[in-house]
Amino acid sequence: MTGPAVPQRLAAPEPGWTDTVDVVVIGSGIAGLTAALKARELGSVLVVTKDVVASGSTQWAQGGIAAALSPEDSPEEHLQDTLVAGAGLCDPDAVRTLVTEGPEAVRDLIDLGARFDTVDGDLSLTREGGHHRNRIAHAGGDATGAEIERALVAAVKRAPDIRLIEHALVIDLLTAEDGAVAGVTLHVMGEGQLDGVGAIRSRVVILASGGIGQLYAATTNPSVSTGDGMALALRAGAKVRDLEFVQFHPTVLWLGKSARGQQPLVSEAVRGEGAFLVDHEGERFMQGQHELADLAPRDIVAKAIMRQMLATGKDHVFLDARHFGDEKWRVRFPTILASCRSHGIDPVRELIPVAPACHYSSGGVWTDLHGQTSVPGLYACGEVACTGVHGANRLASNSLLEGLVFARRIADHLAGGLPELREPIHDTRVRGLVDADVVPELQRVMTVGAGVIRSAAGLSEAGATLGKLIEQPAGEPGTPGWEATNLVTVASALIAAATAREESRGSHWREDRPDRDDARWSGNLDLTLPADGDRAVPRTTFVAHEIEENDRHG
Ligand code: SIN
Repeated sequence: MTGPAVPQRLAAPEPGWTDTVDVVVIGSGIAGLTAALKARELGSVLVVTKDVVASGSTQWAQGGIAAALSPEDSPEEHLQDTLVAGAGLCDPDAVRTLVTEGPEAVRDLIDLGARFDTVDGDLSLTREGGHHRNRIAHAGGDATGAEIERALVAAVKRAPDIRLIEHALVIDLLTAEDGAVAGVTLHVMGEGQLDGVGAIRSRVVILASGGIGQLYAATTNPSVSTGDGMALALRAGAKVRDLEFVQFHPTVLWLGKSARGQQPLVSEAVRGEGAFLVDHEGERFMQGQHELADLAPRDIVAKAIMRQMLATGKDHVFLDARHFGDEKWRVRFPTILASCRSHGIDPVRELIPVAPACHYSSGGVWTDLHGQTSVPGLYACGEVACTGVHGANRLASNSLLEGLVFARRIADHLAGGLPELREPIHDTRVRGLVDADVVPELQRVMTVGAGVIRSAAGLSEAGATLGKLIEQPAGEPGTPGWEATNLVTVASALIAAATAREESRGSHWREDRPDRDDARWSGNLDLTLPADGDRAVPRTTFVAHEIEENDRHG
């Protein structure tokens, strides 16, 4: 299966300056900063981030970080819950790595300075969808990501040997004759020496650039989540896996039909603490749908909400947490309380209107257990990566943990020896750019055709419209055009994968193929971007794997 043709390389001015470091880290969330802090022991490190350092998705994570930290819990139980949520497509070795190394990684984060909530001196652990134990550590009530990011940024600031360039968009990877990474080209906005387009030669590039939420009209992701890392990895020849599995968070504050861009999240932890979903008649509808009812894995809750919305013709449902009372709302969920109130909703007295919105890409740039991608010298961690931990549907609060654990593993692997600095070749592939003005239409098309509910016809229409958007004459090279080109590149790849997977599984819901089909589809879809004339065309390859016996997802 293929998607619409996209540029082979971004159109950009030739680099006007060059620099050299050992390790370039792209992105400054939990994965990027953890990798940087560990890699500084191995050589010179440069962190490149598109906005200011704390502008990525980590900052917005509410619920928390999952790890078997309670004496009543075990990595084995965390593994089971993760495999179930992943609907048969997790890599069990990756999950085992996550759940066994997770607790120590969280303890190290605490030692680094992250202040998690406690009760009587012990970590306060809550529950979220799909978890059979209380294992979600949280901070500031519902401001876990902000606290983790604060602690990591403070640690980076205490490490003067880590260089940080903010407001810098990485354009493309530099590669050597043999296809290995030789550095990056980037555009730095601002004043001073490192302004405009430049080239940084490096021995290693670690991608930690986050997700793809801006592909959709409504998302919990910040505006920087434009799929840049996935797009540039594809252009450099890397393999991207499981892109069809886009997770839609079930409970995102519904702000009306015309709401666009980043929307406020209402954490699953609110349901973990006893809130429940109701329809417009005030009736609960999750009971009987799954043994965990309102705390079922999030694909099941998102689908149940969508079914409810379709059946009633409404565009949202409600979350009822009035019984928490004023104090619990203030102490446990201060961020969500403030966000609801700023939109005129008082959750202490009123139902909260919610609807699913794009939240997380379970797929991404394929990596092995050391974070190595299929391109030598290119590593990936965090949301941009597909380590195999999430399968067809990420378990709630596993993503901060994944970023943390696999960033550490990358540094451990690099401690075995950094590769040599390579000479970049002159890249003669055809450069292209997409018009920045197409983004709103792209988001609309992706939401309608490749959103929560998909079908062959809807995907085909989305692909056809995307093809036309790509053809629109583009303006001058610059961040808006580069982001738009990255978005259409990822959209094209995603449409190819979602069209190819003719079944429903995890967060991929095909209304024309409503059943999970293990006989045909137990395996992953890999995407590559081979050249086709002046363009490149995303192409899928199916990689079959064994069905896990302990996969209990129905
Ligand atoms: C949430 O707090 O509901 C989001 C947690 C997550 O996405 O893991």
